[in-house]
Amino acid sequence: MMPIRRDIRFALPPDRACDWHVKGVPVTHFMNALSLLFPAGERFFMDSVRHYRDRITDPDLKKQVMGFIGQEAMHTREHVEYNDLLQAAGLPAHKLDKRLWAILNVQRKILPPSIQLAITIALEHYTAMLADTLLSDTGQRIDGSVDGYTQMWLWHALEETEHKSVSYDVWNAVIKPGPKRYLMRTGTMLLTTLLFWLIVFDYHVRLMFAHRRRHGRWKFGGMWNLVKFLYSPRDGVFPNIAKEWLSFFRPGFHPWDHDNRAVLGRIDGLLAKIDATNVRYAAQAAPRRVPLHPAASPAANPPAHPAAHSTT
Ligand SMILES: [Fe+2]
Ligand SMILES: [Fe+2]
Repeated sequence: MMPIRRDIRFALPPDRACDWHVKGVPVTHFMNALSLLFPAGERFFMDSVRHYRDRITDPDLKKQVMGFIGQEAMHTREHVEYNDLLQAAGLPAHKLDKRLWAILNVQRKILPPSIQLAITIALEHYTAMLADTLLSDTGQRIDGSVDGYTQMWLWHALEETEHKSVSYDVWNAVIKPGPKRYLMRTGTMLLTTLLFWLIVFDYHVRLMFAHRRRHGRWKFGGMWNLVKFLYSPRDGVFPNIAKEWLSFFRPGFHPWDHDNRAVLGRIDGLLAKIDATNVRYAAQAAPRRVPLHPAASPAANPPAHPAAHSTT
């Protein structure tokens, strides 16, 4: 699977940053808390993979690494803008973003590159699992929410699926196989799981309280929706990712063992919808820059889809 860098912009109405999700404010802020992790987190992923780039001999994997870095760079750019909207809405987005940069910079300084890559493959497994959760029920976990935010999350989820094995394949290519590699991978997954959910929980709570101070109390129904969204045995986030999380501990695990490439067939339809939403949004003279897929060095990276580089 070759990841394709798509230079895409989204129409995110600033006045909906705190309640864009159809299930209300608490679910919105769960997703917003995840968004706050991307600028620092994805830079960490890119750096840890880039560190090993010269040791990769397989030309296909080298190209996939380029695509992976290109995609993550676009995700970061869009989530920086998204997070700025949260800041503008009176939430401590910049402070929380800075805090994560500080945590990850410490890890960069004290951990060897192999452990940094192990953290990356653990968190890339998380992004792949969460992406699959968002995509596998044909959008029911997000359908009916504000278009631009929905489209951005679906785009991110599809691209996370597209590149889900890249860092793992780099890991297999550059780290010597054996029991030590298995223990490093699985031990790091356990510690990363603990730290990841602690940070998500902390950021979510802080966003919720900042929201309450600024915009007033959230509704009880929204809290109940959050509980169902996360824990419902049928389609909650945690029950949904449990099996895939456990699969990471199989000695011969590979991200594509769970073959969900069928969902990638939705990319073209999504790009068309993004274009339509951006055109509609721009026509309303909406209060946010909507460059509508500006041309981005086509020579370096040919467009995968006409919509990806349209300048209309
Ligand atoms: Fe990403
Ligand atoms: Fe990723």
